[in-house]
Amino acid sequence: MKRTPERARTDAYVDHVNPQWVKLLSLLEMNVSYECCLGTELYATDGRRILDFLSGYCVHNAGHNHPTIVSALKDELDKTGPVMLQSNVPELAGELAERLCDLAGSGMSKVFFASSGSEGIETAIKFTRAYTGRIGLLACERAFHGLTCGALSLTDGEYWRKGFGPLLPDTAMVPFGDLKALEIELASRRHAAFFVEPIQAEGGIQVPGENYLQEAQELCRSYGTLMVADEVQTGMFRTGPFFLRIILAFSLTLSYWRRP
Ligand SMILES: Cc1ncc(COP(=O)(O)O)c(C=O)c1O
Repeated sequence: MKRTPERARTDAYVDHVNPQWVKLLSLLEMNVSYECCLGTELYATDGRRILDFLSGYCVHNAGHNHPTIVSALKDELDKTGPVMLQSNVPELAGELAERLCDLAGSGMSKVFFASSGSEGIETAIKFTRAYTGRIGLLACERAFHGLTCGALSLTDGEYWRKGFGPLLPDTAMVPFGDLKALEIELASRRHAAFFVEPIQAEGGIQVPGENYLQEAQELCRSYGTLMVADEVQTGMFRTGPFFLRIILAFSLTLSYWRRP
């Protein structure tokens, strides 16, 4: 049988990337070939028009292929400017950082750029350990902070962790929303940072009690632990404001670092 170019591409993916993923998508009837994706709509090659309610698990908060973003990227590529690692001052990064700090408010003045949420978390682990001189890391039960080894050490659940250990030592988990349990752990004064999602997302959209984050922040301050708000799913206006709760905020493509 002659293979269409589309079929050949799927076969290449099966052969060289991840056959199980193709199997799973087919099983869920989600193995769709797309002509194009614009805003909230996906246009399938079989003529169907699909409204995207998944949004890449909070990734496409500006919609698919937003024309302003596409045009800015094209403009930048057309400029054929320098794209070098540690050999020039990337001026656009400065401009973007300034705009992000303005949006973040609360006296934020620095941005660390990363290319994934997990990388943001890895950075937060390093920065908070370096700053406090402590090595302990605290997170919440049912938390999801990513799948790189450090981030996975703060992600709860055997489903994610099985087979990848040993993960980072000196980590602990407390129930989300439980200030008493948090204080008991913080009182050990061994934790560099407490990582928390302002609203737990992968854990089943868990919204904490009204004062939880504020009080957790106060407890962290009093025991010398930094608080890291993982806003990968809540930030960038997804829940209203630019950040839902800023203390130390690490988001999908950026992270902020500030001494308390
Ligand atoms: C709250 C949270 N933190 C971190 C991550 C990891 O982000 P990434 O998949 O970009 O590494 C995710 C991913 O879903 C997330 O939901």
